[in-house]
Amino acid sequence: MSRYVGDPIVFTGNAHPELARDVCAALDVELGCANVFDFANGNTFVQFLDNIRERDVFLIQPGAKPVNHHLVELLIMIDAARRASAGRITAVVPYFAYGRSDKKDQPRVPITARLFADLIQTAGADRMLTMDLHAGQIQGFFHIPTDELTAQRLLAEHFRSQGFDGVVVSPDFGGAKRARAMADLLNLPVAIAEKRRTGNDDRAEMLQLIGEVGGRDALIVDDEIVTAGTLCEVAELLRSEGAQRIRAAAIHGILSPPALERLAMSPIASVVLTDTLSLPEDDQGAELETVSVAPLLGEAIRRIHEGDSVGALFR
Ligand code: R5P
Repeated sequence: MSRYVGDPIVFTGNAHPELARDVCAALDVELGCANVFDFANGNTFVQFLDNIRERDVFLIQPGAKPVNHHLVELLIMIDAARRASAGRITAVVPYFAYGRSDKKDQPRVPITARLFADLIQTAGADRMLTMDLHAGQIQGFFHIPTDELTAQRLLAEHFRSQGFDGVVVSPDFGGAKRARAMADLLNLPVAIAEKRRTGNDDRAEMLQLIGEVGGRDALIVDDEIVTAGTLCEVAELLRSEGAQRIRAAAIHGILSPPALERLAMSPIASVVLTDTLSLPEDDQGAELETVSVAPLLGEAIRRIHEGDSVGALFR
């Protein structure tokens, strides 16, 4: 029994309306009606067309490109919901952008993940619901309750149902824990590639592989694919080490050019992504497969609304 009026009410910005519709289908509620658009001068207008007074409001808006525009759109939606006397406002951000900017690791650089966490709270969000943050510590940038779901189990279930049997590979030390968790879910061994970034320009440099892949199928697991430089370099390394069929999986498909072309030309046979971000209709030969997070988000929203445990979703 919820202390808010009626069912949870879900609205979408312009970052990923398809996901919001799928979440509503999973929740068996209608998507809330709102106008969210830009005027000719570039200013964003938001108006909720449903009465949301004392309602439990969920605003779905991943950090899709153009990232800054969609983040500001979310802030304006939160502000509008607060001024409309919403009972509670949850920002549902399945992909939290700027996750790489989570520390001051060079002179005179910002911590942009913290800045956007502050802005979401200042705008008036009461809760945050997100998925697979680049670094779990980003949870601590929020002082409102924050639930971080993971799609790892969904991906593991996908590969288990396909009978995948091989080695799970992390593309860098930072992702070793994630790859280990996936390997444990699949009851398979893990290998780790050592990746070093050489600058701020998305170029990665692969150095060596820790673990055995020779004669085995390999599954590279990462949190996000941006330009696919990381995946393709790891795939080349795995091939040179004698891996057989090479596949890849990631939670967030950002897929900035030339990611699709690179993947299509790489030794990677197929790539499994979730729909935290909208994926291209034409994968240009990159062999993309999708696992939907909508049922998981829908279940989390239902539990938050009814005051049930969200942690139970991980068991
Ligand atoms: C890096 O730390 C991340 O986990 C990903 O490996 C990285 O963001 C992927 O970027 P790209 O696809 O451009 O190599």
